[in-house]
Amino acid sequence: MKNIILCGFMGCGKSTVGKRLAQALDYTFVDTDSAVEAHAGKSVSRIFKEDGEAAFRRMESDMCRTLGAQTGLVIATGGGAVLNSDNVNVLKSNGILVWLKVSAQTVVERLAADTTRPLLQCEDKEAAVQRLLVERNDLYHAAVDVVIDADSAAEDVVADILNFIKHPY
Ligand code: S3P
Repeated sequence: MKNIILCGFMGCGKSTVGKRLAQALDYTFVDTDSAVEAHAGKSVSRIFKEDGEAAFRRMESDMCRTLGAQTGLVIATGGGAVLNSDNVNVLKSNGILVWLKVSAQTVVERLAADTTRPLLQCEDKEAAVQRLLVERNDLYHAAVDVVIDADSAAEDVVADILNFIKHPY
């Protein structure tokens, strides 16, 4: 039972889609950010503030290694996780990587009121989203097995992923 690993930018719907997908497949849903928070005993925001982004990335990599060694999981990764090739390798060894691709407009709409993403706590959130998407989109593309359009509703995204799993190309 290969894991299904959902990758993509903040706000692309990894957690919402992941929970529904896990239910449909009778897999266990895990979110790397939540798992890191539970392990560290504090929120991602606090880890960034008190320990720095590099410390968070190390915790995230440790969690990818731990979860990648298990089976029957739908894993929602943090938006930066698959930018590190070590994380991609451990997750891919036992899983199918799915990129939920979203536009900047969707992210900005979905995260307009969000205060939990340290990388987007700046004056011009839209510019930060645009810049990070430009930096990251090629890396997401290179890392994954399949690209799914995630500007649409969660149920459509789940249906597209299930369709790919049944009929991989
Ligand atoms: C990050 C995305 C966040 C979280 C952290 C860094 C990123 O996860 O891991 O704030 O670098 O894109 P979500 O994608 O679940 O918001």
